[in-house]
Amino acid sequence: MPETALITGASGGIGAELARVHAATGGDLVLVARSEDKLKQIKVDLEREFDVFVRVIAVDLSEPEAAEQVFAATKAAGLSIAILINNAGVGGHGKFVERELHREQTMMQLNIGTLVSLTHLYLEPMVQQGFGRVLNIASSAGFIPGPLQAVYYASKAFVLSFSQSLSEELSGTGVTVTALCPGPVKTGFAKASGLEDVTVFQFGASAKSVAKYGYASMQKGKLVAVNNVILGFLLRWIIPLMPRKVLLMFSRLSLEKPQK
Ligand SMILES: NC(=O)c1ccc[n+]([C@@H]2O[C@H](COP(=O)([O-])OP(=O)(O)OC[C@H]3O[C@@H](n4cnc5c(N)ncnc54)[C@H](OP(=O)(O)O)[C@@H]3O)[C@@H](O)[C@H]2O)c1
Repeated sequence: MPETALITGASGGIGAELARVHAATGGDLVLVARSEDKLKQIKVDLEREFDVFVRVIAVDLSEPEAAEQVFAATKAAGLSIAILINNAGVGGHGKFVERELHREQTMMQLNIGTLVSLTHLYLEPMVQQGFGRVLNIASSAGFIPGPLQAVYYASKAFVLSFSQSLSEELSGTGVTVTALCPGPVKTGFAKASGLEDVTVFQFGASAKSVAKYGYASMQKGKLVAVNNVILGFLLRWIIPLMPRKVLLMFSRLSLEKPQK
């Protein structure tokens, strides 16, 4: 029987494409994000195109109690979530000292706090059932420090480290954890994060290709998945050997906005 998947940040971008990839397998879905209208439209589209049932939960996942609310809603509906995809995330641009502290805290709660809580809540029944898949959307940013996006890069380093540790702890349980680490992707992310002018975002991959690759990697139980082969080679074999100060300089240059 096809499995039910819960996807956060499913109202657009990579999350909406992941929902489509999962629906094509015949599996039901729980879609979570703030924009209820967008979620409902995706529900209508997927239910029309595929023989699946889609539930939507409109909630702000940067609220500390959001994960408990989502878990309570799926429990009340009697759902067994076999696939958890922690995709919702946001970035931000600018020097840490000049950015508003509450925006950094909101980002950390969304990118880290809620991801940890949802993972904890849904892992327990997965382990009891002896099967489950967790896909955490980290980023290539998780491999390096990111001056001008200090908290975002650190949040993705957390997701990358956390996912790998969990994967090892869970070996032999039938539950796998995969960290997807995309490079730039053409979605609403750059605009939502104040990064529209940053050059690397002009050359992003499509959300569809990243979602397909990420979903397949999750099904294979891959530990860390980088969607671009050259980027993966650089992140794993070249960048760790670079002197830190040189790496920081290149990283900062890649995140600077062109002078107007
Ligand atoms: N795009 C890139 O270049 C890139 C590269 C590497 C990694 N990533 C990661 O990929 C993931 C998906 O990003 P994307 O590129 O698909 O971005 P996106 O198009 O901006 O989509 C972000 C999704 O997260 C949801 N979201 C944002 N804030 C939320 C909140 N407070 N509560 C609930 N949902 C929230 C948004 O829905 P609502 O606005 O409706 O809430 C939307 O569905 C993120 O974790 C991001 O860090 C992106």
